[in-house]
Parts: sequence; C-alpha cells; structure tokens
Amino acid sequence: RKLPLDGQSELLPYDKTWEFPRERLKIGKQLGAGCFGRVLKGQAEGIIPGEESKTEIVAVKMVRSYADLNALASLVSELKILIHLGSHLNIVNLLGACTDVSTGDFLVIVEYCHFGNLLNHLLANRHCYNDQVDENGELTPLNPSFQNRISCGESDYLHMGTPALALAPIPVKSERKRSRKETTDYLTMLLTNRGSVSFTRAPQGQPNDEDGSDVPINQPFSTRDLICWSFQIARGMDYLSGRNVIHGDLAARNVLLAANGVVKIADFGLSRKVYQDSNYKKKGEGMLPVKWMALESLTDRIFSSQSDVWAFGITMWEIFSLGKTPYPDMEDIGGLMQHLECGGRMVIPRNCPNGVAQIILRCWKADPNVRPTFANLEHMLGDWMEESV
Ligand code: ADE
Repeated sequence: RKLPLDGQSELLPYDKTWEFPRERLKIGKQLGAGCFGRVLKGQAEGIIPGEESKTEIVAVKMVRSYADLNALASLVSELKILIHLGSHLNIVNLLGACTDVSTGDFLVIVEYCHFGNLLNHLLANRHCYNDQVDENGELTPLNPSFQNRISCGESDYLHMGTPALALAPIPVKSERKRSRKETTDYLTMLLTNRGSVSFTRAPQGQPNDEDGSDVPINQPFSTRDLICWSFQIARGMDYLSGRNVIHGDLAARNVLLAANGVVKIADFGLSRKVYQDSNYKKKGEGMLPVKWMALESLTDRIFSSQSDVWAFGITMWEIFSLGKTPYPDMEDIGGLMQHLECGGRMVIPRNCPNGVAQIILRCWKADPNVRPTFANLEHMLGDWMEESV
C-alpha cells in the first residue's frame, strides 16, 4: 500500500507499555521553550526499570498550548519515533510518557542532559577553549560575531513557500475557541491511529535554552573534544539511519551534552520514519531549518539520510567555529540556494584540522550519493580521535 508521503510516523501505533503514572512525576523549572514546545526539568519516581525506588531527574517535553493541534501532532510523532528507535547511548532516550488524554496532559519524558544543548555550551564556554591561544599563550579575544549569536533562535527556521496541502486538514479555527473535547478527540485519534486524518505540518518551534537554564560554564575543552563530539553524533546518526529514520533537523542546538562527555541527539519533532521501499521522501513545506538543509532538500524537497549527512557537516562547522551561525552573511533563501548551486560552500573554521575539514567538505557534495554515510563518518572521525590523543 502506498503511504502518504507526509506523516508516515503518525501511522505507527503508540505502545501503552511506555505509559508512566502522572502522580509519580514532579515537574520543575523550565529548561527551554520555543513557539510550540516547552522542555521542563522533572523528577520521576521509579521510571528506570529495575530501579523502582529511585527518583530520576528527567526532561519533560510538552506543548505550549493544548489548543495547538499541530504542535500536539508533532509531539505525538516524536514520541512514536522515539519508541520505534529504541535505545542508543548517543540519542536522548525515551523514558516514558503521560498520554491520559482525559487529564488534558500530554507529556513525553526523556533523559535529562546535565550540560544542555551543544550550541549554548559552546557559546558559554568558548573562552575556555584550550587550543585557542596566541603566541604568548594568551586566550585570543572574542570575535564580535560570536557575541551576536542568538542561540536556538526561531530565526534558524524559515517558512518556505505555501504550506503543503494535507490529506484531511484540520478545520481552521482560532486556538482559543477550540474546545477541550476537540483536543482530546484529536489526541486519541493520533495515539490509536483510528481514522485516516493527516494534518498540515506546523511551523516548528524549538526549545530555547536561553530562558531559565542552568547550563554549567567554565568547562574547558579542546579540539579533541570537538572531534569526539562529532564522532558521537555520527554514531547516533548511524544508528538512526540504520532504523530508517531521517532526523530532518540535525543542528548543534538539537544535540545535548550529558555527563562524562556523552553527546546525545535530540529533537525528533521533524523526524520521519522512512518505509523500506523508499530511501528518500519528499515532505511538505513549513518552518524549515534552511541553513542546515542539503541542496536537494532546498530545491526539490528531497530528504534522506544523505541530507542528514549534509546537516551533519553544518553541525560540525558550528562545533569547530564554537557556535557561529552558518552562512553569517546570507539572509535570504534565494541567495543561499544560488550560492550552493554555483558550488559555493562555507569557509572551514580555522580551529579545524585539515583532515577534518576534508570530511566536512565531503558532507556538502552536491550529489547525495557521493557524500560519506554516517558509518563512513564514524570510522573517519574515530581514526582522527586516535590521532589527536
Ligand atoms: N533541554 C532540552 N532538552 C533537554 C534535556 N533532555 N536535558 C537537558 N536540557 C534540555
């Protein structure tokens, strides 16, 4: 059966074994917020199997407004993708969910990552970058362009063209007027997959760790750490692509740093499960992270694991530039597309070892099939890590 191109992950059922009793979850302060989603710190009693008496610090994802059905659908999709994925060290693993629609709560509980997102971490700690010293052993002064970076900004996402037509769009209605019953009916439908409703993809909001986060500062790091983080992202992405999942929004703002230098890929709100018979898919338009998008995604809306590889190259560029915004001088999509189509690419940051620079440039080959796979990237970066001990 031919599946609709958009919303494939929504067709996966919700597995109730992930349900966590709401009364055993305490919700604390906000870790991040975007236009649609919020992430809060929480404490979950006995959420780890086999450790029933232990209280675990967790991150709790929720929508900003339950009347926003698009945001709700995106979070349900993320939950289903996380269930499908299973557990891996380099992804932010699912711990549980509270989906009792009658209470009006819809919460996705994931691992808490102590150091927050990698972009903010790089920006907050860039003065502690060991290798950035001048001839006298002094730290090089801050480049003013670093200070202008608005981390995880909504400006990283641009609306492209007209929204895609959905198969059965939700009736347009002001959020305020949507009744609680309408929301709970919709949520029930999404969780059980009853009915064949698809929906217009919402502009995606991203958690913004700026407000209220307690990201640790003064954490020294070196080029070796930058390579090690890149290596771990490649590992997580190799796992993802092996499970036929396209991330669709890989960027430093969506990578989290946990204890012991472990890096985890997060934010599967734009992710899609690809079915076996197709190795690429087109998806609807909406708010898209254009500066992280591959040429074929910008021109033909083709998304694949190989377009995730392009985004991985951009993410490595962000890492080695210690948190700069990609294409700093590029403001419109048209200009960016033209630049890329003419073979233009970003200048590699100067902290980047030559061999690593070559790896990044290969991620941006126009032909997706010529780019390395995540398995290739994992091997190449693994070799580099050994060399930089
Ligand atoms: N910010 C967003 N998600 C987070 C998580 N899982 N842990 C810590 N901070 C976060």
